[in-house]
Amino acid sequence: MATYTFPEGFWWGSATSGPQAEGAADVDGRSQSIWDYWFEKEPERFFDGVGPKDTSTFYKNYKEDIKLLKATGHNSFRTSIQWTRLIPDGTGEPNPKAVAFYNDMIDTLIAEGISPFINLFHFDMPMCMMEKGGWENREVVDAYAAYAKTCFELFGDKVKYWLTFNEPMVPVEGGYLYDFHYPCVKDGKRAAQVAFNTMLASAKAIEAYKQSGKDGMIGIVLNLTPSYPRNADDKEDVEAAYACDLFFNRSFLDPSIKGEYPHGLIKILREQDALPYYTSEDLKTIKDNTVMFLGVNYYQPRRVKKKESDTTFDTFMPDMYFDNYQMPGAKMNPYRGWEIYEKGIYDICTNIRENYDNIPFYISENGMGVEGEERFINEDGKIEDDYRIEFIKDHLRWLHKGIEEGANCKGYHLWTPIDCWSWTNAYKNRYGLISLDLKTQKRTVKKSGEWYKTLSDNNGFTDEEK
Ligand code: BG6
Repeated sequence: MATYTFPEGFWWGSATSGPQAEGAADVDGRSQSIWDYWFEKEPERFFDGVGPKDTSTFYKNYKEDIKLLKATGHNSFRTSIQWTRLIPDGTGEPNPKAVAFYNDMIDTLIAEGISPFINLFHFDMPMCMMEKGGWENREVVDAYAAYAKTCFELFGDKVKYWLTFNEPMVPVEGGYLYDFHYPCVKDGKRAAQVAFNTMLASAKAIEAYKQSGKDGMIGIVLNLTPSYPRNADDKEDVEAAYACDLFFNRSFLDPSIKGEYPHGLIKILREQDALPYYTSEDLKTIKDNTVMFLGVNYYQPRRVKKKESDTTFDTFMPDMYFDNYQMPGAKMNPYRGWEIYEKGIYDICTNIRENYDNIPFYISENGMGVEGEERFINEDGKIEDDYRIEFIKDHLRWLHKGIEEGANCKGYHLWTPIDCWSWTNAYKNRYGLISLDLKTQKRTVKKSGEWYKTLSDNNGFTDEEK
């Protein structure tokens, strides 16, 4: 029987975000984000036509919800502040109602012994900032840095773990390359500018945090997709995987941790005339303000092969350098269409240990979205989601091995505590430890939620004999 015990003080918890969980989108002075706006314009792009307005009612139910976090073993929890709620005009004075909400939510967590991890931006560009050009406009970078500073002033005495962004690569991919986030642009050069300005915004927030003199830690959450070539002996497949790693991982990983962009990425962007505008002062800001810790969201690997298709591109696109590869026999989550490859989490541990100075990190998201979970409700009304328990264990075994080999991993957060709204997928796939009845908003702890409590209480788990 193998036992997997994690380091003392390991962060067990889960993650959500303000826009996906709070609901109350038009309550108490919150302004529109790009999601509210996009839903008004194109509701058909959202699963079942369900938009971001009433997502999961955490704004109203947070006190009860936090009790459920406690009941499911959380010692830590990440959510995000909505810029649109805190500073509805994008710049200027914070909204007192939002300040009161976030203060009380944070205090309630702390009173329950749950460390708040607070993220500042989870895909939710305020519409008033989007009208100025979003991340393409440096004014928005400065407005974000001012918003971050306000957050540190307001909540920095009690919040000890801050994150500047969640998955900054996703709005780049979704909004400027592959049409799954507003503003639905497809242009690699503009994408590069958006990525650079987001990175600069992160560094400026870190700078503001250091200047605030608060005694916590600040980092960034990156979605890392280890890139595997179809054939590790084929030079061109390997080069394709290398290019993907540059575009989708190292474009934020290197500047966030090392303060510098990888040469390979600069070379490609220069060749493609897609280098973003920047100043030498920007580069210094990035160099001087690297993260103190890293959050890693891991869902799926990326399988690639050399370019074989003869697609034509009107503008620079990363896809000029690789083709996606459907590996025969891959284990899939059919509801999300994502490959499940547990060893990827271990490969990330090794990569951070060997190439990124073994910086402290934690798994800030991992999880499994399943459609139609009502199928698994038992006579007590509880969802028996054994597949989720297995999914978590399968990843934790590899994470444990990574830690045993020296990875500086401080915790594991599941996506997500209570089933929440998932962007254009709305409520299609459920990820929670706690189910949500959309009609009544009733929360019920799933089997995985009960199991998660024992996992956290025991700081690990033992494989049962089969
Ligand atoms: C992460 C995001 O990419 O994955 C979350 O940080 C998101 O916001 C989660 O909800 C699950 O992905 P999806 O697309 O199924 O909601």
